[in-house]
Amino acid sequence: IFGSERQNSKGINMNIAAESRPFFAKLDSFKDSQWQAAPLVDGQPILCGEERKVTSPQNHGQQVGQVHFADAETIEKAVQVANAGFPIWSRTDVDLRAGAIETLADLLESHREELIALCTREAGKTLQDGIDEVREAVDFCRYYAVQARKMQGEPTTLPGPTGELNELFVQGRGTFLCISPWNFPLAIFLGQVVAALVTGNTVIAKPAEQTNLVAYRAVQLAHEAGIPTAALQLLPGSGALVGGTLTSDDRIAGVCFTGSTQTAKVINRSLAGRDGAIVPLVAETGGQNAMVVDSTSLPEQVVKDAVQSAFTSAGQRCSALRVMYVQEEIADKLIDLLKGAMAELHVGNPALHKTDLGPVIDATAQSNLNGHIDRITKEGTLLFQAPLSSECKHGHFVQPTAVEIRHIGQLEKEHFGPILHVIRYQASQIDQVIEEINSTGFGLTLGIHSRNETHAQSIADQVNVGNAYINRNQVGAVVGVQPFGGQGLSGTGPKAGGPHYLTRFVTEKTRSNNI
Ligand code: NAD
Ligand code: ALA
Repeated sequence: IFGSERQNSKGINMNIAAESRPFFAKLDSFKDSQWQAAPLVDGQPILCGEERKVTSPQNHGQQVGQVHFADAETIEKAVQVANAGFPIWSRTDVDLRAGAIETLADLLESHREELIALCTREAGKTLQDGIDEVREAVDFCRYYAVQARKMQGEPTTLPGPTGELNELFVQGRGTFLCISPWNFPLAIFLGQVVAALVTGNTVIAKPAEQTNLVAYRAVQLAHEAGIPTAALQLLPGSGALVGGTLTSDDRIAGVCFTGSTQTAKVINRSLAGRDGAIVPLVAETGGQNAMVVDSTSLPEQVVKDAVQSAFTSAGQRCSALRVMYVQEEIADKLIDLLKGAMAELHVGNPALHKTDLGPVIDATAQSNLNGHIDRITKEGTLLFQAPLSSECKHGHFVQPTAVEIRHIGQLEKEHFGPILHVIRYQASQIDQVIEEINSTGFGLTLGIHSRNETHAQSIADQVNVGNAYINRNQVGAVVGVQPFGGQGLSGTGPKAGGPHYLTRFVTEKTRSNNI
């Protein structure tokens, strides 16, 4: 479907033994592995600071490896190496840069099982989420390689009515700081990094505190693929120290951030306070995502899509469904079906094929989510809580919960976990529903279920979101197919995995030559 220039990666067909058996055998070989992470500056691991233990969110007794966090001296070294590396890397032919990124995609595929094991053990991702994570990372690499060649392959020749030669060049900006979240520890981490690298920037990558091991392995593979060690530095560490130091450093030429809206605002203020150049901030942030279900929709289909949208990845997706508006006429039937579907969810060990939901990322997330469930079920009506299996005893698990409430304002903020809020509405209140959704200020994903096409399209047109989905689930945007990103409190754009994404990583220069 993408023509000859590129194809998206393939998954694993679990029904074909010839595919699934070798996959599980290889995956099993990583079940007791231990990994290490540390700052990687010019390709050298720097064992600064104290060594921290990394344990699995599924079982706090299970160690996955160790990490060293960057200190001030290491941060300074990384900036110096990245800045010194910029002139050579930015002048390297785009075809060579893109070729190295495509080699990285091949290496990600050949290390697929190790990376999935890391996603499962370090981040608590289910097997299916791990498979999808590696695929998305691969797709970002190949997609941006193609886009960069198109954008930077040859300068654009512009009209020269007086005989001058006018040309437009597109170049990297300098050292880009890439700050990523834990919920897509490979795909978002690498998506940012390869977008900045392929366009000719050098990169300092700062992964989330919770997921350094997978990031470290990804950077090792990037260097193995031919990305020069001077072009890509890794700084595991705290948001306040590494992020805070670098966003206020005038030598940083741009920031690509994915994470909470709150942190994006802190970064925005830090960049605004610098004395030096005004630089771009690409911020992809949170959501308060709704689904609108009218009385013409098919309840079985709605429930399948709502359960997938709200509970995949234990609800830890920025795209996840948080609030389902259901037209009164079908609300009772739909809620009954929803309870039945939730009762079937297997919550447990993310490494098992049968598991639908794994743990949430850490103890803080677990306690915040359970606090919200306690509060909101007192204000509203608890509809259903799916049981936790016996595999959940030693980990950070939260029961998938559905609760009926009256108003989206009762949520106050994004609750990043497996909690679905349901609101009933009358057909005559649809304008109020649209206004209520827009009033949150977020604008990431929207689901609509209706068999009245005009009605569905009218809702999609009026709600301010980046990604609207009609009669399907609203998670799992595919690179090059559903470019992903929001508006308002949900982000600045341009959309990841879309044709305009790379434009924020470059600067343009014209040359007028009166030959
Ligand atoms: P977070 O904002 O807590 O952290 C994100 C990153 O920012 C981490 O690497 C963290 O260390 C760093 N950071 C923290 N303080 C900083 C500071 N002062 N300066 C610079 N960097 C700092 O977010 P999280 O909990 O890791 O991720 C979950 C959030 O990410 C949710 O809100 C989710 O909606 C959002 N998200 C958005 C998208 C999207 O594409 N829109 C995708 C995934 C996740
Ligand atoms: N791109 C991710 C999704 O669509 C966040 O679910």
